[in-house]
Amino acid sequence: MILRPVDSEKNSAWTRLIVPDTPDFHRLEVYRAHGGYEALRKALGMKPEEVTDEVKKSNLRGRGGAAFPTGLKWSFMPKQSAKPKYLCVNGDESEPGTFKDRQIFEFNPHQLLEGILIGCYAMGITTAYIYVRGEYGKWITMLERALADASANGLVGKGILGTEFSTDIVIHKGAGAYICGEESALMNSIEGQRGYPRVKPPFPAQNGLWGCPTTINNVETMTNVPLIIQRGWEWYSRIGAPKQPGPILVGVSGHVNNPGVFEMPTGESLLEIIHKWAGGVPGNKRIKAVIPGGSSTMIVRGENLEGVRMDADSLKAAGSSVGTAGLIVMDEDTDLIRVITRIAKFYYHESCGQCTPCREGTGWMWKILTRFEKGEGTMKDIDILLDVANNIEGNTVCALGDAAAWPVQSMIRRFREEFEARAVDRPSGSREAAA
Ligand SMILES: Cc1cc2nc3c(=O)[nH]c(=O)nc-3n(C[C@H](O)[C@H](O)[C@H](O)COP(=O)(O)O)c2cc1C
Repeated sequence: MILRPVDSEKNSAWTRLIVPDTPDFHRLEVYRAHGGYEALRKALGMKPEEVTDEVKKSNLRGRGGAAFPTGLKWSFMPKQSAKPKYLCVNGDESEPGTFKDRQIFEFNPHQLLEGILIGCYAMGITTAYIYVRGEYGKWITMLERALADASANGLVGKGILGTEFSTDIVIHKGAGAYICGEESALMNSIEGQRGYPRVKPPFPAQNGLWGCPTTINNVETMTNVPLIIQRGWEWYSRIGAPKQPGPILVGVSGHVNNPGVFEMPTGESLLEIIHKWAGGVPGNKRIKAVIPGGSSTMIVRGENLEGVRMDADSLKAAGSSVGTAGLIVMDEDTDLIRVITRIAKFYYHESCGQCTPCREGTGWMWKILTRFEKGEGTMKDIDILLDVANNIEGNTVCALGDAAAWPVQSMIRRFREEFEARAVDRPSGSREAAA
């Protein structure tokens, strides 16, 4: 995958806000020369609750998968607390199809750090952790360099910008487990425990890291915050889709001519993203299906893409979700049974094993799918597979179980003919019917 901040020429109407076009923007002096850390200065002149209120009114919704309103999440943090409070910034980024946060680590780490500092000020937090996918060695080094520069220049640590406000930021490397992106497993991992998700309630705002009040937000979510404070919620909320506004990083992979990460306003049409931003499908082939928001989101048939947009509400209406905006495009020649078998294997491998339905069910799904891949599945197996997926969904401590079930459920519901065509006991002619 080629990684670059893409496409200022073809999409000149859009000025990038999360991964700007400016050369060397990752360097502290360049960032500051373009107004960097001025949002923090402005925030420090406001009351903490005014900062949270600004974020609330902006309608910023989390970019980590669930599109949860960020300001509302911040307001759950207790104002007074005898215990310390923590912020965990989630850069575990391990979902297949998702590779957008590393653009921020590479091209705009200071805006992330500035957003973290503003969040800490708003919530009365003095320590923030950035949890980064362990395989991101190069990007961890870049982030560490940015943090060292910010610390050396009085922007992180004690008495930030000459005020009373002090916050430390710690970079924590993951060790290759998808489950550690789940917020409570992430906290266990930082504590040095096994990365098992915790039962909720209690929620992190009451009982999080080391039993203390904690907020967890995605890297891209935090990188939006300086924009809101600097330019105001009204400006921000006019960008893109009204109910989930702002810039969004969309990672496009699969059968497109120009794969990569693209920054755009929320609410772009999926077809526009594929054809205009990502250069269309090689050989102008028909789009058979897309997975819109990373491997856990429900698959959408190509012929149902008309009018579907990259925002939480539009994708919900299309029977899927925005997830992490990792759009996987599959052309007419794609073997969808192979695709779903590979996805199922990932979830089977990544299940932490704590909950029986997920530990056992992900393995059963993978086994049944492997039978279909080899042409050994039966018509009855289709219903058994759906039954297994339905029994995982909603029956586990964390959403990894749902993430494993949704792609399988949606694949059967939307592409049942693909399974029937591969069944050994298919009614005669069904393979031809599906072809
Ligand atoms: C199995 C699993 C893996 C996850 N991985 C990530 C991840 O890598 N990054 C992330 O931001 N959120 C991930 N999440 C979602 C987090 O639990 C959490 O909702 C998110 O970090 C909140 O940030 P936001 O409100 O800014 O979106 C994952 C969830 C699950 C169930």
